Amino acid sequence: MTNSVTIGKSEVISGLLGLGTNKVGGHNLFDGLKDSDGAAVVKTALDDGISLLDTAFMYGLGQSEKIIGDVLQPYDRSKFVIASKAAQDPNNDLKPNNDPKFLTQSIDDALKRLKTDYIDIFYIHFPDDKTPKAEAVDALAQTKKAGKIRAIGISNFNLDQIKEANQDGQVDVVENHYSLVHRDAESTIFPYLKANQISFVPYFPLASGLLTGKYGKNDAGKFDQFSSAEFNQIIDSLAQVKAIAEKHQATVAQTILAWYIANPDISVVIPGARVPEQVDSNAKALDVQLSPAEFAEIDRLF
Ligand SMILES: NC(=O)c1ccc[n+]([C@@H]2O[C@H](COP(=O)([O-])OP(=O)(O)OC[C@H]3O[C@@H](n4cnc5c(N)ncnc54)[C@H](OP(=O)(O)O)[C@@H]3O)[C@@H](O)[C@H]2O)c1
Repeated sequence: MTNSVTIGKSEVISGLLGLGTNKVGGHNLFDGLKDSDGAAVVKTALDDGISLLDTAFMYGLGQSEKIIGDVLQPYDRSKFVIASKAAQDPNNDLKPNNDPKFLTQSIDDALKRLKTDYIDIFYIHFPDDKTPKAEAVDALAQTKKAGKIRAIGISNFNLDQIKEANQDGQVDVVENHYSLVHRDAESTIFPYLKANQISFVPYFPLASGLLTGKYGKNDAGKFDQFSSAEFNQIIDSLAQVKAIAEKHQATVAQTILAWYIANPDISVVIPGARVPEQVDSNAKALDVQLSPAEFAEIDRLF
């Protein structure tokens, strides 16, 4: 298995495991976060050889990007892939805005917070309902030409919106909700992405912690998107993943992450983390080599 991937038609090359950073400075999204933990999470990821950091303006309204920018300073910038996103307009109740001028300004602002002169992947975080998608993407294409970003991403776009955004073939990567317990993207968008050389980065790969195996049947109330029958089935399936994990002296989370890493439909997996210990543990997923039979078994279990 290769240990790197090219993002779409761009020149960005990333390792297969990244870090999601919505709990790095994301005080507007989660309670009880500490910026010191966030900084330690990012530093641990960099030291563990995790090369892609997935951030966004929305994570702390710039705070996640600022923390990442500070932590990155002593490191060799060329070794890391930074992905960020914008769309939520702080001057309009954080409603999505894909106006070309807004996106261009958002990239300039993100560059300042990240204290860098280029962002490897920049995503339109959410579509708005007024800007023609190809015009929004063209704004990113202009900043790519100017060297400020290196690859063009879109996030939370459905198939029709992806097609509209990609009408000039400029989209490199899509980031949408996907995990072993949320697999719609396999039928709705994967065929188009594959046919058009567009990379896929799933968000919520651990189903917000559920797929780490740390919850049991009594925790159904924390995951109300599942019926109780679905939830119990997931917990039973995770018990079977545990048996596979034990053969590799691995945790359930590492084994689930190894499944994404081995999956050719997925470019980079970006589990989030609240504390550095989770990053250290998740980084070891790169050492778990699932056999084809184990890969197929996990595929079948969910
Ligand atoms: N484009 C978008 O619209 C969008 C939307 C959502 C997320 N994202 C991105 O996708 C990334 C991933 O999503 P996510 O972080 O929300 O969900 P996730 O990766 O499914 O779950 C991450 C959470 O699981 C828990 N966890 C992680 N590793 C663990 C371990 N080894 N042991 C025990 N618990 C562990 C932590 O939460 P606790 O410790 O609190 O349990 C962590 O914050 C985000 O960080 C963000 O960068 C993008």
